[in-house]
Amino acid sequence: MKKLIIEGGRELSGEIKISGAKNSVVALIPAAILTDGKCVIRNVPNISDVNILLEMMQELGSIVTFENETVTIDNRNVKNCRINEEYASKIRASYYFMGALLGKYHHAEIAYPGGCIIGSRPIDFHLNAFTKMGTKVEEEDGIFKLDVDNLHGIDIFFDFPSVGATINVMIAAVKAKGRTRIMNAACEPEIANVASFLSSMGAKIYGAGTSTIIIDGVDTLTDGYIDVIPDRIEAGTYLIIGALLGNNLTITGIIEEHLHSLLFKLREAGVQLDVKNDSITINRNENLKAVNIKTTVYPGFPTDLGQPMSTFLTQCSGESLFEETIYENRMRHIPHLNNMGADIKSFDKTAIIKGKTKLVGRNVKATDLRAGASMLVAGMIASGTTIIYNIEHLLRGYERIVDKLDKVGAYIQLVDD
Ligand code: UD1
Repeated sequence: MKKLIIEGGRELSGEIKISGAKNSVVALIPAAILTDGKCVIRNVPNISDVNILLEMMQELGSIVTFENETVTIDNRNVKNCRINEEYASKIRASYYFMGALLGKYHHAEIAYPGGCIIGSRPIDFHLNAFTKMGTKVEEEDGIFKLDVDNLHGIDIFFDFPSVGATINVMIAAVKAKGRTRIMNAACEPEIANVASFLSSMGAKIYGAGTSTIIIDGVDTLTDGYIDVIPDRIEAGTYLIIGALLGNNLTITGIIEEHLHSLLFKLREAGVQLDVKNDSITINRNENLKAVNIKTTVYPGFPTDLGQPMSTFLTQCSGESLFEETIYENRMRHIPHLNNMGADIKSFDKTAIIKGKTKLVGRNVKATDLRAGASMLVAGMIASGTTIIYNIEHLLRGYERIVDKLDKVGAYIQLVDD
């Protein structure tokens, strides 16, 4: 176990370059298994989820390299279609192997996926869609066995635009017979990124990034190639930190359009942003105003930025309302923020945040990945020393976080607990 030690209150200047998107790459790697050829994935962040997925690919028989932010995957010897239980339960994205192995072999065996405990996180949309495509789904001792003679295209309507289910069904449908139409599909930018990768292999996908995606199944796929899009959640986290501590802090390698909801809210609170092509320069503002945040699906305010944003709201004068609409357990960081001096009342999926409050360094816990980001922002602005335990959660989503923040002037150290 590791912990993060932060001395708060340091002004931040210089440049932070954003890495490839975690939620894209965790789908791109399993999707690569669909082809018998080779794949090149560039701009890959070196985070633990990526390394676990690459180990899973090796277990399936792929030959894998990871150098200079580039992953190469050679599938010519792939034969296996069972994923070791221990791997699958470590990360959420292991569910993408269901769609990929089903598309390739018509058979998959995989344990229930792991991931942060931010809600019940069922996978019924995924399994119902696979069933409608002709698959027999069985569960025994926590292992899902999926079998299909002929995976066929279907019309599917999701009751909620699930990111994971949209990508998983899209992956499986690439090699299904006939046309699949996904309606009420999720529109997150990571979905279009995965579709571009599959299209580079010869898949026929139309409308990815909109709420209706059409996939015409193909028999064979060629080599694949993709650049991972920038991580909009990592960029958003550093922009939030910059709004509180920046002195000409520039966040580079971003796609502005992916950040519109956050940029709008930061401006509404009084933050000045200088946006140029793929970078944003940000300066701290001592006179921030309260704003209301309601998380929702893209292009709405992302649930993954709700927790770090709630720390920002403690520094805004007035009363801010923070509403989470996607997950049940996105408020577990609030007691830790209050322990540091915040004035927040939370009820179920809503919090009322009164600001501006002075935060002081304390020993706190990262209860999940984005709660860890919230604690990071809090530690950075608090007076004195903050120690964040269970920091493995945070490291899962942010590449070289200590190095990136240290270079722009933060006092931050990662040490063994
Ligand atoms: C993905 C992201 C996660 C982000 C989330 C919402 C990855 C690896 N993770 O998670 O960072 O917070 O999107 O933007 O990309 N649901 C069901 N049944 C299902 C699937 C989902 O009821 O079969 C519900 C979930 O409980 C949740 C909502 O739908 O309330 C959204 O979940 P979903 O979009 O699927 O999230 P993930 O793909 O797990």
